[in-house]
Amino acid sequence: MKKMIDILTEIVQDKFELMGYDREYGRVTESDRPDICQFQCNGALSAAKKYRKAPMQIANSVVEELKNIDIFEVVHIVKPGFINFILKDGFIVDYVSKMGNDERLGCTEASNPLTIIVDYGGANVAKPLHVGHLRAAIIGESIKRISGFLGHKVIGDVHLGDWGLQIGMVISELGRRKGDLPYFDENYYGEYPEKAPFTIDELEEIYPAASRLAKSNEEAMEEARKATFELQNGRKGYIALWKHILAVSIKDLKRNYSELNVEFDLWKGESDSQKYIDEMVNYLKDNNFTYESEGATVIDVSKEGDNYTVPPFILFKSDGATLYSTTDLATIWERIKKYDPDQIIYVVDKRQEIHFEQVFRCAVKTNIASEKLKLNFIGFGTMNGKDGKPFKTREGGVMRLQDLIKMIKDNVRTKLKDNKSLSESEAEEISRKVGLAALKYGDLSNQITKDYVFDIDRFSSFEGKTGPYILYTVVRIKSILVKCKEQINKYELRLAKPCSVIERNLMLTLTAFNETVEGAFQDTAPNRICEYIYDLANTFNKFYQDNIIAKEEDLEKQLSWLKLITITKDTLEMGLQLLGLEAPDKM
Ligand code: ARG
Repeated sequence: MKKMIDILTEIVQDKFELMGYDREYGRVTESDRPDICQFQCNGALSAAKKYRKAPMQIANSVVEELKNIDIFEVVHIVKPGFINFILKDGFIVDYVSKMGNDERLGCTEASNPLTIIVDYGGANVAKPLHVGHLRAAIIGESIKRISGFLGHKVIGDVHLGDWGLQIGMVISELGRRKGDLPYFDENYYGEYPEKAPFTIDELEEIYPAASRLAKSNEEAMEEARKATFELQNGRKGYIALWKHILAVSIKDLKRNYSELNVEFDLWKGESDSQKYIDEMVNYLKDNNFTYESEGATVIDVSKEGDNYTVPPFILFKSDGATLYSTTDLATIWERIKKYDPDQIIYVVDKRQEIHFEQVFRCAVKTNIASEKLKLNFIGFGTMNGKDGKPFKTREGGVMRLQDLIKMIKDNVRTKLKDNKSLSESEAEEISRKVGLAALKYGDLSNQITKDYVFDIDRFSSFEGKTGPYILYTVVRIKSILVKCKEQINKYELRLAKPCSVIERNLMLTLTAFNETVEGAFQDTAPNRICEYIYDLANTFNKFYQDNIIAKEEDLEKQLSWLKLITITKDTLEMGLQLLGLEAPDKM
């Protein structure tokens, strides 16, 4: 469906043009003063400067033409030249009815669908997921859902950190602990066991121990580096061990991510780009993009006019080892080959900005990325504790994601204790959904780049701008609809003209759904959807306070209200879904 704001803008632009002014001036926006009007156009003021006329004169001439248009109830001018609009109720009702009959709630699918790869999650194999990965997962998931809903072809890739030093650390630590395993015997030519020589719990203990040791002991660090190098150069036993590490880790990661309602289309990682490195390097060398600097092979990516230093892109270190930058560039190479994307969106901690700036510049400069390919870095801020420092456990350690999810779920669970009508398993399922809403909405409602404070009590409150409040509103509507089941089954629900200001506001708020989703897509800003569904839930709750829907005696009115709240529920639920959330049936 055409967006409401576009319908109005087009009409007004036509009239500006008709009166001899540039169309641009006819842009309509939502009203800054909803107490006076619903929409407004400020174009006469800027047109006045260009055409050297009084704004009132321009506004008057345009409004004279707009008077014949039957969708407007009122068009009036306010000094010094604002044009204000109030729509006819019938027009609003028509729009909302159409939206309600559309399963996409008025959101049009893209006519030229783009292929978009969303690189998010970014978990590291052998390390447990921690809160730092939380934001990558939930923001990326939402961006993916929004793009997909608008008809784009989206591919979500977890892009595992599965090739770096952490693997070398684990391998060398395993060597110290279980050195007699065949994986470490270079003269072993038999088959390796199918079963991994460790469980996930052991693995999660081994990595931090190895990492601690390597940090304090240069010899251990050297061993880890050597193991990494040998792995990357194909040492058989290490490759076999690495495959075990991968399999055990991925199984655990999948479970963790699914608890967050996060699902990836691709479980690829840094290691997958390995097979493309040779051909990419040949290409770069053949075209003279590389040079040697202190033994390393680098590509200059600084630009004239840079007001900060962008260091050269490092392709190989002096010992020939590849780096994070190498795998990211080779991954772009691979993705172009395999998926021919129009856009790659990276959802990563904003502290990695320089790294991506280097990778993107390098890809563009070397023509690996053609002009058509948009590379976007969406850097997110840190989730802090109440002390303003990155969120930690009470003991000051890194909080595991699993523990964080449990903490918030338990918090919600205690709140549900008062509701005696819930069975044990219902309460469990509800606290899972509500807890997730608390966590995700608390995160997604912030601007992505900003740091925010994780406040469990505020996030899980059933009142205020929170996920649980929105779920509660959906549950409330569902229960009204259950109460009115008979009428719903017996009659056709049809929207009638609004009987009150708040009812009209509810309808008008609904009309902005498609515009909100498109805006969230254009600006990669899921927080727009958070804002919108909060506003919609609030407006509904005001309407609900004023009207006892289930007891309304005027049947036509009641049926219209039932239709209105059904569309409201569908819209809230669609918004939630785009954030990766769902409402329970009771709460
Ligand atoms: N594994 C990385 C980390 O934990 C994030 C990966 C982000 N994606 C990428 N293509 N570099 O920091």
